[in-house]
Amino acid sequence: MSRETTISRDLETAWFEAIPARISSRRFTGEALTSAELDRLEQTCERLSTPSGSARAILIRTAPPEVFTGLVGSYGRIEGAPSCVALVGADDAGHEIGYIGEAIVLDATIGDIESCWIALAFDAERVGPLVGLADGERVHGILALGHATETPSFSERLGRAAMRARKRLPLEKIAPGHEGWPAWAQEAIVAARLAPTGANRQPCRFHMDGDALVMTTAPKPYWTAPLDRGITMLHAELGAAHAGVSGRWTANPAGDLARFVPQSAS
Ligand SMILES: Cc1cc2nc3c(=O)[nH]c(=O)nc-3n(C[C@H](O)[C@H](O)[C@H](O)COP(=O)(O)O)c2cc1C
Repeated sequence: MSRETTISRDLETAWFEAIPARISSRRFTGEALTSAELDRLEQTCERLSTPSGSARAILIRTAPPEVFTGLVGSYGRIEGAPSCVALVGADDAGHEIGYIGEAIVLDATIGDIESCWIALAFDAERVGPLVGLADGERVHGILALGHATETPSFSERLGRAAMRARKRLPLEKIAPGHEGWPAWAQEAIVAARLAPTGANRQPCRFHMDGDALVMTTAPKPYWTAPLDRGITMLHAELGAAHAGVSGRWTANPAGDLARFVPQSAS
């Protein structure tokens, strides 16, 4: 049986407020981020990387444009992003990397920096040497960062949240029977529903098991599913915290199941 990992970190309550304001931006102005913006991103990366090094986030202050190549698929190409964060870890670190990567995305959103998760449209061969990979590590994805060509204000983006929510599966589909759940768990799944996922596939499903909120993955998992799960775990945890309940996620890296066990209610 493979190990269970505790995913959770110390949360910033402000990240919750950024959830409805975040969107994926693919066209950036090319203008460099300021030193203050970069320093803040770097501190966030350092704080969230695991002390053991199992999941690391490394800021690339000046990102060569060639890193934003690779399979584009149905996505638009990434243009003009001045910086990026490389998300690095062992093969089975996908949940942790999704969790810390999304925390960086939400923290950047608060600082009016736009972003896009990229797990396909980047060149891992070019990113690896820029961050110095240890044995057994690989680049799971990168976060494109910068100022978007069209930058809506924070409040304009909040206004768009309802529109974006329409692109997500109905709550009843991802959390059947949620009406009877405790308020904190309902808040958790509302936040989880707004999580970005690779190609917007929304693989996560939820149910209650006693006091615990359990997350499973929808049938037909696919290659970004571990990252998507980690991202969704952070969103759910922020929702629970907003409702006054803190707790811990544990997940089996090889499996498709994670449990959030409440530890305290305020
Ligand atoms: C793990 C992950 C990988 C992604 N990879 C790419 C990518 O390679 N290229 C891209 O343009 N967008 C990528 N995206 C962005 C998703 O397409 C986007 O989050 C999703 O369609 C939902 O839209 P939203 O982020 O605006 O809410 C990725 C998102 C996630 C979470």
